[in-house]
Parts: sequence; C-alpha cells; structure tokens
Amino acid sequence: MRGEAVLSAAGQTDPMLPRRARVRSAWRELDDAVSLSLEPVDGDLAPFAAGQFNMLYAFGVGEAAISVSSSPDTTGELIHTIRDVGAVSGALTRLKAGDMLGLRGPFGTAWPVEAQRGRHLLIMAGGLGLAPLRPALLQALARRDAFAGVTLLMGARDPGGILFPDELAEWTESPDLDVVVTVDSAAPGWTGSVGVVTTQLPRALAGIDPTAVSAFVCGPEIMMRHSALALADMGVPDAAIWLSLERNMKCAIGFCGHCQFGPDFVCKDGPVFPWPHVAARMALREI
Ligand SMILES: Cc1cc2nc3c(=O)[nH]c(=O)nc-3n(C[C@H](O)[C@H](O)[C@H](O)COP(=O)(O)OP(=O)(O)OC[C@H]3O[C@@H](n4cnc5c(N)ncnc54)[C@H](O)[C@@H]3O)c2cc1C
Ligand code: FES
Repeated sequence: MRGEAVLSAAGQTDPMLPRRARVRSAWRELDDAVSLSLEPVDGDLAPFAAGQFNMLYAFGVGEAAISVSSSPDTTGELIHTIRDVGAVSGALTRLKAGDMLGLRGPFGTAWPVEAQRGRHLLIMAGGLGLAPLRPALLQALARRDAFAGVTLLMGARDPGGILFPDELAEWTESPDLDVVVTVDSAAPGWTGSVGVVTTQLPRALAGIDPTAVSAFVCGPEIMMRHSALALADMGVPDAAIWLSLERNMKCAIGFCGHCQFGPDFVCKDGPVFPWPHVAARMALREI
C-alpha cells in the first residue's frame, strides 16, 4: 500500500523539460523562508494533488524539489514555500515578482485526504513540514462535514520558526478545527506550550477514539519517526499513519536513482508513504 498515486507531469510532453514560469508574487514567511506564487507563461497550470512536489529550476543555478503549499482546490493558484539551505533554495528565495524560473511537475504521491472521510484527521507538522501539509489541511477544511474532526498539531524549534502565523491565528479561532502549537524552546513573550511535538499528543487527541484517527505527519525525519511511534503507542492504527519523506532528487521521474530509499524511489513511490511501508527502514540510519 502506498500514498495516493496520481498522474505526474500532467499536460507535459517531456517531464524532464522545465516549463517557464513567472513569479506572480513573493513574500517572506520566516527569517530564512519565502513563499512564491507562480504562473506558467506557456499555458494553464497542471492539476496537482495535496502532497505533491515540483522541481523548481533557478536559472543558472540548478533544480530543487519543492512541495506545493497551496490548495489544489484553488484554481490557478500555485504556491511553494522554500527555506534557504543552499545554492538552489537560496536563489529561489531571492526571486521577486516578475522574475522567471523553470517548473517541472507535479510529481509524486499525495496525502490520501478523500480516503479519510468519516475519520478524525490529525495533521502533525514540525517546522517547515507544515508547508507540504497545508494543501491537505485546506482540502479537509473545505470538506469539513466529511470528517469526524480535524486537529492541527504543530511544533517549531522556537516561536520565530512558526510557519504561517496569521493563518494559524485564524485557524485557532475557527470552530472547524482544533489547533495545538508547541515550541522546543520558548522566547520572551511566549505563553504557549513548550516541549517537542510528541509531548502534546495526549492534549491534541484528548477525548478522541485513537482507532478513528488518521494522521498525516511531516517534518524532520526524526520528528516523523518519533511521532509515528507515539501515535501507535496511543492506539492509532499503523495503517492510518502517513508521512512525507525527503531525499536528494535529480530526475524526479524514477530514472536516475538519486532518491532511492531501499526498494523505493522517493520521487515516484513517495514522497507520501504509509508508515508501515517505511517503518523498518526509518529505524536504520544511512539508508
Ligand atoms: C519531495 C520533496 C519535497 C520538498 N519540499 C520542500 C519544500 O516545500 N520547501 C523546502 O524549502 N524544501 C523542500 N525540500 C528540500 C529541498 O529540495 C532540498 O533542501 C534541496 O536540496 C535544496 O537545494 P539547495 O541546492 O538549496 O541545497 P543543497 O546544496 O542541496 O543542500 C543544502 C543542505 O541540505 C542538505 N541536504 C540536501 N539534500 C538533502 C537530503 N536529501 N537529505 C538530507 N540532507 C540534505 C545538504 O547536505 C546541505 O546541508 C523538499 C525535498 C523533497 C525531496
Ligand atoms: S530523483 Fe531520479 S529516481 Fe528519483
């Protein structure tokens, strides 16, 4: 069993050939992270699913895999949220409105949002991991009546690392979902919870039948592993836990082997995997 399979690179004849896209707008999310709203200049946006990623090409620098952070339901909107960690991501975060870049995709498997109808959906994010989860959360909120409940459990290293703070404030006020936010270390003025994200699971799932919970988890790999183990300890079925893996990517279409993770290629078999499919491998280092 895998994440939800979807067609890749819809509408493109050669999935290795980037389309030219323009930055419609760019805005800072965190000290080291920026969101870019993009529009292809050669036609319509390819449809995408929550959890999929694109290869963004900073001309003259290179390509990086970046998840879509906007909702598939919002026609014509394509947003990516990028942290500056190296040459390509740094160049992407310096783009301004009107600048051009290359775009290949969408690629990979999706969060199985529709399949969780009737269940309590727990979205569990660590740091920038909220970006790839945001499309799934927005989709669930747009179909809120279809779910028994929706909870967002979000952890960040410190209050300055909390992604989408304005939207988070709106979600906190909304009756449609429960929001629990925690930071590893507090800063002056922080009155919220302190502790790694797993410490807040009992609060996030208080009064909820764990066997009715489906969890989508994204963040640093160690956070995802500990979260999946903690969820399982609480009684959430292993088969109801999904997570999104990152590996170094080149082709993004299953040819080059750069993203190999045991028998899987993360670019086409993932990035969204059911926890039971990867649990044993995630317990090993250096795979
Ligand atoms: C499916 C997928 C979705 C992603 N979504 C996003 C996103 O939404 N936003 C975002 O900012 N980034 C995302 N990334 C991560 C991004 O693709 C990488 O950080 C990319 O390597 C950045 O390229 P760079 O040239 O800027 O940095 P690089 O020079 O490639 O690397 C910068 C730093 O990251 C380390 N690094 C690079 N690749 C890996 C790896 N595979 N595993 C562990 N460490 C690594 C390097 O050692 C170095 O310390 C995603 C990656 C994948 C695979
Ligand atoms: S990136 Fe080439 S096989 Fe996955």
